[in-house]
Amino acid sequence: MRASAPGKVILFGEHAVVYGRPALAVPVTHVQADVEVSLSSEPGVWIDAPDIGLHAELNSLPPDSALARTILNLFRALKFDPYPDLHIRISSTIPVASGLGSGAAVSVATLRALSSTLHHPLSDDRVNALAYETEKLHHGTPSGIDNTVITYAQPVYFVTGRPIEKLRVGRPLTIVIGDTGVPAPTKESVATVRALWEADKPTWEGVFDEIGGITRGARDGLESGTSEQLGKLMDQNHVLLQKMTVSSPELDRLVEAARRAGALGAKLSGGGRGGNMIALVDEGRAHSVARALKSAGSPSVIITTIEPSS
Ligand code: PMV
Repeated sequence: MRASAPGKVILFGEHAVVYGRPALAVPVTHVQADVEVSLSSEPGVWIDAPDIGLHAELNSLPPDSALARTILNLFRALKFDPYPDLHIRISSTIPVASGLGSGAAVSVATLRALSSTLHHPLSDDRVNALAYETEKLHHGTPSGIDNTVITYAQPVYFVTGRPIEKLRVGRPLTIVIGDTGVPAPTKESVATVRALWEADKPTWEGVFDEIGGITRGARDGLESGTSEQLGKLMDQNHVLLQKMTVSSPELDRLVEAARRAGALGAKLSGGGRGGNMIALVDEGRAHSVARALKSAGSPSVIITTIEPSS
């Protein structure tokens, strides 16, 4: 059995979403994680992930391995003990630790392929809940936005703990995604923001409120299809992320380059400190903004269009 899951980008509201404010995220189908599971005659649960040079039996993986956690949680949920003999092959075109949701996509695709092979295909809600358990390994307090947008593979307006709200996009939006090439674990940037918040809650609650207001405004802009306004909101969100210290010289350089090349607005996306930035562009400008990002040092650029939902 095979399953795949897309990457994702957060358009607005990262970090503030960990503190109960809303965030907007969309799937990125140009990149994906693919998992193939088969019953095996070789004893054990063998995992092959050639992209990262992994060939190992489940029990030999370290206890904090996200993959081991995902597989073991599924066996427990399906009450499989002893484990069946299996072969699991994982590949992914989603860059690791870059804010595109590679960890969550591998979890979602693994849960789907594995549960189908074991004749207990899981509902989206169960896949989402189990993928969230694994996200907790990446950092202790995930908002759940990554596993949600990747499981349901649709644009979402997300508030932790509330039923997901599908985001209705008024007209096509073109986004250019630029990678800094600097891997940045979300765990660290989330911990930094937590330390700032612990030290001065009134100030940071105020910043999170401002981001919440921007995200709500952006939702209105997306639904009515007014992208000029959205670009400005992206710029404002980036300033607040800089204030949170989660931007970096590389991210700022790419954000500036995108704006100079005519983007309507730009910001970092995801945990920050490295990883990816996004720029909102008029469709006709996408390639010149992509070229500008490459000249400013981005090793890989993706152009993606968010289509109006039916
Ligand atoms: O780095 P990413 O794309 O996994 O994004 C994390 C988003 C945060 O808001 C920083 C953390 C979270 O759990 O929502």
